[in-house]
Amino acid sequence: MITEVITIDPVRPASQPLAHAGQIIGRGGLVAFPTETVYGLGANAFDADAVGRIFAAKGRPATNPLIVHLADVSDVGRVAADWPAAAARLAQRFWPGPLTLVLPKTAAVPDAVTAGGPTIAIRIPAHRVARGLIAAAGVPLAAPSANRSTRISPTRAEHVLAAMDGRIDLVLDGGPTPAGLESTVLDLTTSPPRLLRPGLVTRAEMEAVIGPIESTGQTAERPGESRASAPLRSPGLLERHYAPLVPLECVDSESRRRVEELHRQGARIGWLTFRGEPLLSLSGVSVIELPGDPAGYAVGLYSALHAFEAQAVDRIVVELPPATDAWLAVRDRLRRASSPA
Ligand code: TXA
Ligand code: MG
Repeated sequence: MITEVITIDPVRPASQPLAHAGQIIGRGGLVAFPTETVYGLGANAFDADAVGRIFAAKGRPATNPLIVHLADVSDVGRVAADWPAAAARLAQRFWPGPLTLVLPKTAAVPDAVTAGGPTIAIRIPAHRVARGLIAAAGVPLAAPSANRSTRISPTRAEHVLAAMDGRIDLVLDGGPTPAGLESTVLDLTTSPPRLLRPGLVTRAEMEAVIGPIESTGQTAERPGESRASAPLRSPGLLERHYAPLVPLECVDSESRRRVEELHRQGARIGWLTFRGEPLLSLSGVSVIELPGDPAGYAVGLYSALHAFEAQAVDRIVVELPPATDAWLAVRDRLRRASSPA
């Protein structure tokens, strides 16, 4: 299969490429498109065969359900069987935006989307290209991140192509995604609601709207938890990881020392920091410094990891940001990306 690439304006997307992409969706094809978080790989959520092609293109286990993307709140009833008051309040506050809600599904949603389960994850993305594509397709889009399973999510069309060229019909290239980290996933089918994946919409922001939310063991990393007493858990124990191809090591502090030590051993290092330290200029050490605030850091994180992969470094060393609620999502992705020591 030849993968077509069309450049599209992220702010004022032209209608012709959106209509073309919508037709591809209509005949069961796969279209990668930018959202405000990461690039998604979309198919008609009501077409089980098309959804099956997503799993094949990604190499994703059929047991991992997909997020369904809607153009408007009025479409919720097509896929979700219940719309509790908490959902309405969260949608009012955070949609369109990087928050995914898990609700009971309708019979119209094929089992392939939800991995056979009774619930469905839905969100309305904030990106104009994403909204325009869903509107042009006229159906909800099932869309996981457009990476191969277990690998780093794409924040640029180049990342999508590196993984998916020849495996999908079309990439809408709307430039780098503005937020850079996958959406927050909140399960509203339990009481209290459960945070399944931390993201840029924080637990505190959601609790201010709907009251107490429970953390799952998977994401548990509470504010105030001491950095020294929080050993990184083995990603082998985690259900999902977002792993670069090269080993990635998180260091609590003084990552510079670790980089120098590895450099002495002859390794080529990708060093990811955010501290504004005097940068090392050692041959074989490639440094990327991200902004010192969580939102700014999130924008550049995956691009930095993709860049280190492309440079074929031997090891990535990351200085961990502080263990506070604001950094929860970033730390969650870094821990999942890290290799066993
Ligand atoms: O920002 C995002 O969420 C991006 C963009 C493309 O929207 N999508 C994304 O999709 O990150 P994906 O498939 O890479 O991650 C979806 C997550 C997975 O952890 C999946 O297990 C979970 O949502 N999920 C999907 N449906 C679920 C359900 N019914 N119950 C619980 N978790 C679910
Ligand atoms: Mg993903």
